[in-house]
Amino acid sequence: MEHTTRAQFPQARPRRLRRTENLRRMVRETHLRTDGFIYPVFVVPGTDVHEEITSMPGVYHQSIDRVVEDAREVADLGIPAMLLFGLPPFKDAEASQAMAVDGIVQQALRAIKRAAPSLVLIADTCLCEYTSHGHCGVLGAAGQEGFIDNDLSLELMSRTAVSQAEAGADIVAPSDMLDGRVGAIRAALDARGLHDTLIMSYAAKYASAFYGPFRDAADSAPQFGDRRGYQMDPPNGREAVREVGYDLAEGADIVMVKPALPYLDVVHAVKTAYPDVPLAAYNVSGEYSMLKAAVANGWLDERRAVMEALTGIVRAGADMIITYYAKDVARWLRDDDTSHTATSNGAFRVGPSHA
Ligand code: PBG
Repeated sequence: MEHTTRAQFPQARPRRLRRTENLRRMVRETHLRTDGFIYPVFVVPGTDVHEEITSMPGVYHQSIDRVVEDAREVADLGIPAMLLFGLPPFKDAEASQAMAVDGIVQQALRAIKRAAPSLVLIADTCLCEYTSHGHCGVLGAAGQEGFIDNDLSLELMSRTAVSQAEAGADIVAPSDMLDGRVGAIRAALDARGLHDTLIMSYAAKYASAFYGPFRDAADSAPQFGDRRGYQMDPPNGREAVREVGYDLAEGADIVMVKPALPYLDVVHAVKTAYPDVPLAAYNVSGEYSMLKAAVANGWLDERRAVMEALTGIVRAGADMIITYYAKDVARWLRDDDTSHTATSNGAFRVGPSHA
């Protein structure tokens, strides 16, 4: 080890290890694996609805029947988990549809569980898609615009999580960034005997511009103000480690950093501080749409750019990636796998073969 790092030219020729694809495969440090993918979907009321979201090409608003078909495809591709967002038939100040027994996500969870029982179903637990004002909790006293009432909102978050778990969610994922919500949800789940429901907390979620396309997709843009009173301030990295610590102390099973690409230092810091805790990174809508836009203009090679970006997220320390690209990448990885096996046994080798 010592002498390798000290060796000077011409002893050190790192390029020797890059000469062929098989050599590169042998020394590759990071592997993008379908095992770590989580595929997000947007469920809407109705039947046979499958409408592309303008700012997110390849991502759709789907009614439950179409989401069920999608779930079968996701399972067939070997992707272990799906993350559900819902667009309710109506919104109100208390987000009643977020926790309704027959809410859009609750119905979808039951239907997908029947169709693809082995898929891990994750419900995004938040109120912003369900409140008429678009904030992630209930509003505080007048004059506190943007400051939602933390402790009042916890009660609604807990009821939402319980109703999602009872409808079949294996994991609930609180994405509101209110204080104390992991502990409140854990207590509420346990009180209902839902000890096996996991909590994946959006532990370090930043007040990011990169959620723009998602807010069109989920119709969840705040009607006034912004989310800076509860989501993290982008310049803060050390604070993320503290946030993760609180969520773990409150019982989070998996923690998440979000967005992913502009926050790889945070992903790395969290993995370094908590190496034994499962860590997810959310490659959010804006990260997806940027790539799609560049690809549509012919400025980037989609497959190479996407694989490189997602590999970077794994290299930074993420064990799991939530990405709208999950199905594409699962297909590409499957194709790569067969091409390696094919060349290693020589069956599909192309070109002239001379002795
Ligand atoms: C809900 C929520 C948001 C995202 C996931 N859950 C939006 C927000 O906080 O405004 C963003 C996901 C994405 O951009 O892909 N709170």
